[in-house]
Amino acid sequence: MGDLDGRTFLITGANTGIGLETARALAGRGARLFLAVRSEERGRQAIEEIATQTGNRNLELLSLDLGDLDSVRRCAETFLATGAPLHVLINNAGLAGAHGMTASGFEIAFGTNHVGPFLLTALLLDRLRLSAPARIVNVASVAHYNASGIDWNAVRRRTRSFTGMREYSVSKLANVLHAQELGRRLDGTGVTACALHPGTIASDIWRRVPWPLRPLMTRRMKSPREGARTSVYCATAPELAGETGGYYVDCRPQAPAASATLTLAGELWRRSSEWTAAGG
Ligand SMILES: NC(=O)c1ccc[n+]([C@@H]2O[C@H](COP(=O)([O-])OP(=O)(O)OC[C@H]3O[C@@H](n4cnc5c(N)ncnc54)[C@H](OP(=O)(O)O)[C@@H]3O)[C@@H](O)[C@H]2O)c1
Repeated sequence: MGDLDGRTFLITGANTGIGLETARALAGRGARLFLAVRSEERGRQAIEEIATQTGNRNLELLSLDLGDLDSVRRCAETFLATGAPLHVLINNAGLAGAHGMTASGFEIAFGTNHVGPFLLTALLLDRLRLSAPARIVNVASVAHYNASGIDWNAVRRRTRSFTGMREYSVSKLANVLHAQELGRRLDGTGVTACALHPGTIASDIWRRVPWPLRPLMTRRMKSPREGARTSVYCATAPELAGETGGYYVDCRPQAPAASATLTLAGELWRRSSEWTAAGG
């Protein structure tokens, strides 16, 4: 029993890094958790580890590949069929430094980090509304400050920058814009939304950085456990009830990039709805 007893959370990418630590922290407080992951094996290992450590057996696995919109639809259907309420959706899963396109035809960072989560959120919105008070938490990044806007052609073709970081920054700007627009559209429904930067964290996100650069880079970074703090805060802090559309760093609100404008958020919403046929 804990203070989150009776509350249901769905966390994407909960098998490793910040997502795993977020799941562990919430499970330790008695929450019911759905872990949406792309590898069933790694997901089961995470569940076993969390259950053993916290004693919480209210943990369920959902299969999800955010780069494949059919997989996103199946994941949402499977969750909705359980009949469970949804109090908090944490759009945590993401990748950086990859090159290519998703199965659904988007630049790989944009498709995985924004388009998939946009559709998942849209498909779960009615359940969130029914479960209100409810929250949507987008794990964005300070990297969004590096994006001055969104090139609508670039998000439909292969990654072009050498490091992939230009495309990653755009995808994280999209996470911030998505939370802002959700905040406006869900005003008065009891469902709030926010975006956050977890800190610079020594997680698997650096998996594409070649050795020996990787250990040198990650040595001074914070742990995934520290990285989960702001996610857990945004997902559970009572003082955030009624707060919506904000961007948080170190459990405090912070102004997002100047490029996160109302107009761009509206345009991203319109295009994302068209791409995913999610309505809205
Ligand atoms: N680490 C940092 O310094 C940092 C800084 C700012 C923001 N962030 C953000 O924090 C979030 C969590 O990242 P992390 O640092 O914890 O990285 P991580 O350790 O690499 O974890 C990322 C998670 O996302 C999952 N994922 C990747 N592609 C997916 C897909 N197509 N479908 C479903 N799941 C997918 C991964 O699954 P697999 O294990 O199967 O690959 C993994 O569970 C990301 O959104 C990232 O952008 C991280």
